[in-house]
Order: sequence, then structure tokens, then C-alpha cells
Amino acid sequence: MSRLIIEGGRPLEGSVRAGGAKNSVLPILAATIISGSESIIHNCPDLRDVHSAIAILRHLGCRVSQEGHTVTVDSAPMDRWDIPDHLMREMRSSVIFLGPILARCGKARMTFPGGCELGPRPIDLHLAALRKLGVAIQEEGGQITAWCEKPQGCDITLSLPSVGATENIMLFATACPGVTCIVNAAREPEIWDLQQFLQGIGASVSGAGHHDVRIGGQIALKKNTQHRVIADRIESATYLCACAAAGGKITVEDTEPSYFASVTQLLEESGCALQVGADRVTIQAPKRLRSVGPVRTMPYPGFPTDAQSPLMAAMCLAQGTTVFTENIFENRYRHCAELMRMGADIQVEGRLALVRGVDHLTGSAVKATDLRGGAAMVVAGLAAQGETSISEIDHIDRGYEKIEKAYAQLGACIRREE
Ligand code: EPZ
Repeated sequence: MSRLIIEGGRPLEGSVRAGGAKNSVLPILAATIISGSESIIHNCPDLRDVHSAIAILRHLGCRVSQEGHTVTVDSAPMDRWDIPDHLMREMRSSVIFLGPILARCGKARMTFPGGCELGPRPIDLHLAALRKLGVAIQEEGGQITAWCEKPQGCDITLSLPSVGATENIMLFATACPGVTCIVNAAREPEIWDLQQFLQGIGASVSGAGHHDVRIGGQIALKKNTQHRVIADRIESATYLCACAAAGGKITVEDTEPSYFASVTQLLEESGCALQVGADRVTIQAPKRLRSVGPVRTMPYPGFPTDAQSPLMAAMCLAQGTTVFTENIFENRYRHCAELMRMGADIQVEGRLALVRGVDHLTGSAVKATDLRGGAAMVVAGLAAQGETSISEIDHIDRGYEKIEKAYAQLGACIRREE
């Protein structure tokens, strides 16, 4: 099992480029099914989750090639509408293929996406919305079989602004006659990016990033489109938290600072000096971080749940106590036990985590409990005294491309041990 080995205590210096957004490219790769022609996706990060999505597309009969950060999908030869369990289990968010397969084939079969480290990950909102749009869905023995009985656009109000449900509705509604309006839609930048891609293949989608998203059905498909994926806001935020924790001064380039303003605001509150440019952020860490006001994870544009664990790793070293409330996922504090192995002082009570700052963290043998929990261990290892080894780093590779190379470029002493 490969591990990351980090010799901590070295301030970070230099600049690094943010890659394409994982949570944008996954729904966009699924959306390439709809066009029935060729889509060229630029700025596509080379991640395990991207490989999983490509495996699903190839299983469905699509022709896919990947050259560096460009992925080309030709969905014309698609000849299947089912996703087998072993491919569903590779990636929690594979349910995002349900909408586009239904839009293209009128039927779909897949197993229930596995839960994951963050909790059960239900898809009730996805299924309820598709049923309202005229899809018949059978759920039996962990298998979902769905077929279009009488697809018809309509208003769908989401009880919570689910990112995945918003995306699945947008993707399927492109095939429904009439207009679909998603009320209380998720407003994440990745929703906007998906809208841009769908417009590129001829769909009439508007309102992404706002409360309501409107989709006109039965689109006049355009052939052969190109799209550039937006920058990854969580990868960018992770770099900033790492510098805040380890010290030094870095610049994150090729990013969109407005996408993670809730994170930069808290880092300024903690004593970091930030310079925000059009496509870059420079951060200078203080001698010692100060604890920040309550950190509550919320739907965008609130503080992102995906940045909770990297920020917490930095706050373990702050002067004072920081209170975190995790409002999005049920079980997103698994990294706390690993941070405590390094000397962090954290008390978890349900959705609350009380983080009392300590003078230092001590390098230890720890594991990545999940994708962002693993990123938190890298942040902590960079700041700790001594050597940290992180196991189960497959979790990290799902969402961070060659993480050791990125941080070594910033002066960190970090290597991957196969
Ligand atoms: C997306 O997950 C992201 N994943 C997650 O990023 C991110 O944390 C999350 O949105 C919130 O921003 C991708 O985009 C691939 P949700 P998603 O549907 O779509 C509940 C990462 O680390 N819910 O907005 O699954 C759900 O249980 C990953 O990059 C229902 O109850 O998130 C959760 O508590 C982790 N029923 C809350 O809503 C449903 O039908 C938010 O989930 C759907 C969701």
C-alpha cells in the first residue's frame, strides 16, 4: 500500500497552479452522453474519480481518449444503458449518470451507489424528482431500473439544495418536452459550469448559480463541442490552509478566488495576509494563527463542507478555540481521531467539533479516512514537527492530482512511497 512521507516544519514558498475542478468534470463527463457526438473537455484533472467516470463511459460504448488534461468523448457509438455494480462502487457520485443515460436511451439500470466514508449518501431527492418528470423507477435488491413513461418538464422544488440532485435533474430535463424549473437548486460554481457545457451542446439552460434553474426540453443537439473546466476551488482552498498551517508565503494561480471567498475570509480572520487577484490568491501566514469565529458548513456560497477538514488541520495550531459545525454530512469528522494522534486537542459532539489550539503537532503514522480527511492529514503533516506517514492515500488520489508533486513544488519535503 503506498504512503505519503512528510518531513514537517518547513514553511511553504512559491506558486502553484490550481487544476480543473473534480466536482465539475464528473457531471460534465456524464453529460457528454447526451450529445451523441464528440465533446473535447479541457483542463480535466488526472484523478482516480475521472478514471472511474471514463471506465463507465467506455462500458456504455463511448469512445474516450485522455491526453494530459484533455479528455475527448465520442458518445455516438453508445450501445448500453446499464452500469454494473463494480463500476458503480468505484465512485460514490456515479449516480450522476442516471439522468443522462435516461435522456439518451429512455431507460437506465444501475445499482444503488454505495454509501461512503461520509455517511449513507441517500439519493431520494434524485429519484423523487425523476419520478415527477415522468420516469418510472423500480428499486429492488439494491438495483435501480428506470424507464421514461411520459417525460414532461415541470417545476421541481428541492427540500435541500442537493448538488447531485440538481445536476441529475438538469441532465434529464434536456430530454423532456416543456420547461423544467428547479426551485431551491444548488448554487455551487460546478452547477454553473455544467450549465455552460449543456449550452455548448445546444441545451437551453439558464439560472445556474441562482435559486432557480430553468431547462428547456428536447434540445436541438449541436455536434462536436469543446469545453474548459473551471478551476478547483477546494484544491485551491487546501493549498491556502496548508500554507496557513505550515507558514510561509505562496500564490495559487489559474484559480477563481470568488469561488472560495468564504474560506479566504476565515483565513484573514485567523491572521493570514491575503492578496486576491483576478485569477490568483497570495497568502502570507502569520507567526501564529488565531482561532476564528464559529465555522459552519453550508451550501454554496456558505463555507464549503469539503474545506472543513483542511481548515480544521490548520486551526489545530491556532491560538484559542475554534468551533466547527458540520451541517452537510453526517459523518465528516473521521479525520479528528487521526489529527489527535498527532497531538491535536479536538472534542467531537455530534455535528460539533471543538478545536483547542496546541503549540505544535508531532509527526506520526496516520491514515487518510476519506478524500478531504486525507488532505487534512497532509496539511497537518506539513506543519508538524518530525515525520508523518499517511497510509490509505487512494482516498487522496481520488481528488488531488499527484499531491506530493504539487506540495514539493512549494518547498515541502514530501514523497510517495510505493
Ligand atoms: C457533492 O456531493 C460533491 N461531490 C461533494 O464533494 C460535496 O461535499 C457535496 O456536493 C456538497 O457540496 C460531487 O460533486 C461529485 P449533496 P453530493 O447532494 O451531490 C443529502 C468531495 O469531497 N442528500 O449536495 O452527493 C446528502 O446526504 C465531495 O469532493 C439527501 O438526503 O452532495 C448530504 O447530507 C464529498 N438526499 C446533503 O444532502 C439526496 O437525494 C448534501 O448532499 C441527495 C443528498
